[in-house]
Amino acid sequence: MCGIIGYVGAQDAVPIIVDGLKKLEYRGYDSAGIAVYANDGFSVAKQEGRLNALETRLEEQPLFGHLGIGHTRWATHGEPSDVNSHPHIGSQNKIAIVHNGIIENYKQLKEYLERRGVSFASQTDSEVIAQLAEYYHRGNILDTVIKVTGRLEGSFALGIMCLDEPETLIAVKKDNPLIVGVSEHGNFIASDVPAILKHTNKVYYLNDKEITILRKDGVRFFDFDKEELQKTPETITWSFDSAEKGGYPHFMLKEIMEQPKIMRDTINNTSASVREAMNELDITQFNKIVITACGSAYNAGFVAKYVFERLCRFPVEVELASEFRYKDPIVDERTLVILVSQSGETADTIAAMREAKARGAHTLSIVNVVGSAIAKESDICFYTAAGPEIAVATTKAFSAQLVVLYILAIEFALRLGKLTADDSDKLTAEIALLPDKVETLLSQVDTIQKYAASCVGYKSIFFIGRNIDYAIAMEGSLKLKEISYIHSEAYAGGELKHGTISLIEEETLVVAIANCERLYPKIISNVEQVISRGAKVLLLSNFENAEQNDHQSHILLPPTVDLFSPSLSVIVLQLFSYYVAANKGADIDKPRNLAKSVTVE
Ligand code: M6R
Repeated sequence: MCGIIGYVGAQDAVPIIVDGLKKLEYRGYDSAGIAVYANDGFSVAKQEGRLNALETRLEEQPLFGHLGIGHTRWATHGEPSDVNSHPHIGSQNKIAIVHNGIIENYKQLKEYLERRGVSFASQTDSEVIAQLAEYYHRGNILDTVIKVTGRLEGSFALGIMCLDEPETLIAVKKDNPLIVGVSEHGNFIASDVPAILKHTNKVYYLNDKEITILRKDGVRFFDFDKEELQKTPETITWSFDSAEKGGYPHFMLKEIMEQPKIMRDTINNTSASVREAMNELDITQFNKIVITACGSAYNAGFVAKYVFERLCRFPVEVELASEFRYKDPIVDERTLVILVSQSGETADTIAAMREAKARGAHTLSIVNVVGSAIAKESDICFYTAAGPEIAVATTKAFSAQLVVLYILAIEFALRLGKLTADDSDKLTAEIALLPDKVETLLSQVDTIQKYAASCVGYKSIFFIGRNIDYAIAMEGSLKLKEISYIHSEAYAGGELKHGTISLIEEETLVVAIANCERLYPKIISNVEQVISRGAKVLLLSNFENAEQNDHQSHILLPPTVDLFSPSLSVIVLQLFSYYVAANKGADIDKPRNLAKSVTVE
């Protein structure tokens, strides 16, 4: 959570930082702030609320400078307020910092400094970094930063300015993302690539426990022992447009519409790399697979459990990463742990990965953000080719994760001798058809939009399915509640009678997903049970003859094998959620209380 950016160079830092913050706002949007070096001191603007509140303030009281840092906040310690916003500046007005992460021992450090006469302005954990830096500073900012980081426990990506070195921007990374961009007019730090893509596509990825010193004309890197490091920049291939809305009202809609392309790209990129990686990996050494992830990525794992188990006849457990890490998990060198993450920076998933590795498990990750912590630390990483995903609600990254998981499951099944080459080819061909089928569904956007517009008044919306349809119902429910704030739950159809059905009344909508042929009559019985108790039903199904009447609407999905049908159901579920939220006037790309990358526990 939280986005940080910094610039030092020939141009005015303020518009560069504000523009970068716009691209980082998906990481947190409780408050925002900026500090620049000007006239022998720091000029600061910090504002509770969305970034446009800070912009308005900057129009009224403009700032100028060639060195600056900016921050967009997702509050962890201290309520969203002007004073708790970043940047934080020490009480001697000498060192300014922006921080993404959590300082776990901030209370002890705060007490330590307070005993020595330092007074604090905010309730944040982050302020302690600025105060400690001023307390230790003896003239050399690199030495100060090394000393400070030695006392910090927790996670931090930091941008730092010091009055003693007014042409220097200094930054540190530990357990939170940070990149360095270099351009002809100046150099940047940022939490993520889109923030600086307008200026450069040459990027250095910092590793944990690395420090960088940026000046107008160069960048240097150090480790925590002050040893200078040689690093090579990477060239980002995303176009600048990929991080823009491109005429759509929201990033979420743009990202939904991009799915046929990103699925094609992911299929093309992944097929060969999975085969190659599997040549190196003896999968017969494993006796179980554990998939662990959070939120939608967990739901992708839940879908994959059905696919792997059906194709491979191999036990697969799916665990929430936040639970896995504390449950004393039963994993060892005979376990393959699959981590799924768009950002590759989710704190719980990183911790689960480290826990699994510490127990000897082999780790394989499916990640979207290149160079992220999970991508780097897992034993094998497959990238999804979704490009930058900006909307907090994931759509295209989820679809890309599903296709990678299908491809992996087929390859596993083949190597375990559970699938013939012929059957594997047929399934692979079916995957290749999915992007076209998604395109067909996207062309029905008007029908879904119209239906969704009539659903705004529901107080509760339930999602039901059986087998793999249940797994994708979970994602439908999460998507809806996340952006529309309508209460929603997902249930396995057969579970309704064990409790949930008591919630069904006139004001309830039930979205039923029915793509598994052998279970079709069963889920239809569940549909009849809820209709007879007053619910309205939206049926998503590839069975052409599904009934339509006053109580039940049907959206016909293109046919595919049931194992891959989640890739089609989810498109309707995403559009449905999007249009319900849009009709409610919700802030779709930035739902309340959420942030895109959850880099805290
Ligand atoms: O970056 P990750 O895929 O690890 O993020 C995991 C979840 O935080 C994420 O999927 C979240 O649930 C989405 N906002 C759902 O749309």
